[in-house]
Amino acid sequence: MAEGRAALVTGGAGFIGSHMVDRLLEEGFRVVIVDDLSSGKLKNVNHHAAFHHMSITQPALLDVFNREKPDLVFHFAAQSSVARSTRDPILDSEINVLGTLRLLEAARRAGVEKIIYSCTGGALYGDPRTVPCPDDTPPVPVSPYGMSKFVAEQYLEFYRRQYRVNFTSLRYGNVYGPRQDPTGEAGVIAIFIEAMLRGQRPQIFGDGGQERDFVAVADVVEANLAAIDRGDGKAMNIATSELTSVNRIFELLKEITGFRWDASHAPARAGDVYRISLDCSVAAAELGWKPRTSLADGLAQTVEHIKSSTPAGSR
Ligand SMILES: NC(=O)c1ccc[n+]([C@@H]2O[C@H](COP(=O)([O-])OP(=O)(O)OC[C@H]3O[C@@H](n4cnc5c(N)ncnc54)[C@H](O)[C@@H]3O)[C@@H](O)[C@H]2O)c1
Repeated sequence: MAEGRAALVTGGAGFIGSHMVDRLLEEGFRVVIVDDLSSGKLKNVNHHAAFHHMSITQPALLDVFNREKPDLVFHFAAQSSVARSTRDPILDSEINVLGTLRLLEAARRAGVEKIIYSCTGGALYGDPRTVPCPDDTPPVPVSPYGMSKFVAEQYLEFYRRQYRVNFTSLRYGNVYGPRQDPTGEAGVIAIFIEAMLRGQRPQIFGDGGQERDFVAVADVVEANLAAIDRGDGKAMNIATSELTSVNRIFELLKEITGFRWDASHAPARAGDVYRISLDCSVAAAELGWKPRTSLADGLAQTVEHIKSSTPAGSR
């Protein structure tokens, strides 16, 4: 698959992007990372990849493309917080829309074959009437983040039509797993684990009955890999099609970590979707992809990772 090909990974120091980098190196690709480390971490950067510490919003991005001559681009870099997008929609749009446009321009000029884009399923369809939510559900994003991710997907479609820059857009559910930042505002699984390991009561917003579609990062990486040669010009959901409530996550993690206390409760957050899971028929048909990691295994792996990366003294 790799045969001397080069892959540029934006956001390769972040949660999902860093796993993608590792996997691409394993497959034999030459890998180039572009990341401004705004939420990513230097410790996630694989030393076998070339690393450009810069923002995708900078004009110098074109120089990187001209120098590195990537065949493929995996686009993970984003302002990825829904809450922050609501507080600062201009910044969100500068990174997620204008940054993606700058990337598309550089890709077009450098003759990139294909861009594989990380979109959102969870923030795209609002509170869907049907769950699992079909791939062809009309997008009605309710946050600036959902809007900017969707607008960027539209630009991908335009660049394919106009300039034949190929793409696949993968619309993820709630991704979880090792390296997710437990100090952020999103990523309920990492946040709960971190709190439990420190002996603190995790905070549940609302009644905890809100349901999500949690997909393991390893499965998301495999979907990206499958999209290299398949799914051209298509957008598709990448998740498990299963509903899991926040209360259930709390209970499962209690069992794994041995945590003995109840959660604390806070008012529901405005704009949070109450119930969503994603139908993944298009990914199955187009990519031959389906999720393989059970929630129990994925949670156990995530707990192990956070345990091993949190110094015992600080727990
Ligand atoms: N984690 C999820 O549940 C989830 C769900 C749906 C979609 N996504 C999408 O997947 C992608 C990766 O998300 P993640 O959870 O790994 O987030 P993350 O914050 O861990 O990773 C994003 C990476 O992009 C980098 N970055 C941000 N702005 C940049 C800029 N202007 N220039 C260069 N680099 C920049 C960050 O430093 C970070 O390393 C994002 O596009 C996000 O919208 C994530």
